[in-house]
Amino acid sequence: MGPMTSEHSSPASAERKLAFLGTGSMNGAVLRGIVASGHSPQAINATVRSDQRAETLRTQTGVNVLIASENPEANKLAVAGADIVFLGVKPVGIQDLCLEIKDSLAPDTVVVSVAAAITIEMMAGKLNPGQPIVRAMPNTPLMVGAGAVGLSAGTTVTEEALAEVVELLSGSGIVHVVPESQQNAVSAISGSGPAYAFYLVEAMAKAGTELGLDPALAMDLARATVSGAGKMLADPQADPVAMRKAVTSPNGTTERAIATFDAEGLPQIMKHATAAAAARAAQISSELA
Ligand SMILES: NC(=O)c1ccc[n+]([C@@H]2O[C@H](COP(=O)([O-])OP(=O)(O)OC[C@H]3O[C@@H](n4cnc5c(N)ncnc54)[C@H](OP(=O)(O)O)[C@@H]3O)[C@@H](O)[C@H]2O)c1
Repeated sequence: MGPMTSEHSSPASAERKLAFLGTGSMNGAVLRGIVASGHSPQAINATVRSDQRAETLRTQTGVNVLIASENPEANKLAVAGADIVFLGVKPVGIQDLCLEIKDSLAPDTVVVSVAAAITIEMMAGKLNPGQPIVRAMPNTPLMVGAGAVGLSAGTTVTEEALAEVVELLSGSGIVHVVPESQQNAVSAISGSGPAYAFYLVEAMAKAGTELGLDPALAMDLARATVSGAGKMLADPQADPVAMRKAVTSPNGTTERAIATFDAEGLPQIMKHATAAAAARAAQISSELA
């Protein structure tokens, strides 16, 4: 399915009440993206465990932050009256969090989990029967409006509710609705993918120093290059194959580098790395089921 637009969603959705439970790197990125695209921070409750994280979040976003380590009721209080609840604790904590909040949710509150490997069925087993559940696989570039999200909806999620979640997220990135069976693959490509791009920068910078550049200069060049290439790719019409060919002159320098990547098996390495990530997600699912 292609990227969804939000044309069917309610115009009142900007004032919908949201709760973010476990607002660390990922849920924090989702929250920042939603606030940056115009959702009122006064309509958002968030929870974290420690007070350091709480203070930063409060100052940066203006949302109401509750601290779970100080207030055992924090998660329950945060979801009271919420229309949509985003769960962002580590995968191992998602099912306990579902049990913790289930009696504080309205029957039509949509529960969206951003956790890798936790299936809709696993969450449904810990929530009240019929609770609408959406499984999301976002990524951290959502915080700069350039994220990618795969969404799968449980059977009790209405089209309107799904459109609303799509609308909230599409202010800060592309959103695709995918069958749940593809979520581990989405996780391996776009969920973990920002780390691959950062790792590429590290490797390019290290290679630059081996070619004699000052480490700081090598890092600056590598970072600006990957970031600039990323900006060029942000246009949905951009074709990375054509763009690569355009900067690869026959018998030139870039051609030598690409030939070396091919000869040393970069496509195979990518295949193995993403397969390992997807397999780990499947393994975590079975460990936590
Ligand atoms: N990181 C990614 O790029 C990425 C991508 C896709 C999906 N995910 C998913 O996102 C989820 C979180 O990963 P993360 O990297 O964002 O981890 P993280 O930064 O450690 O975030 C987890 C947050 O949960 C808070 N927390 C823990 N227990 C809590 C509780 N009982 N009540 C309220 N808050 C609690 C922690 O608070 P303190 O900070 O105060 O301890 C922390 O802020 C995972 O399920 C992961 O699969 C992550």
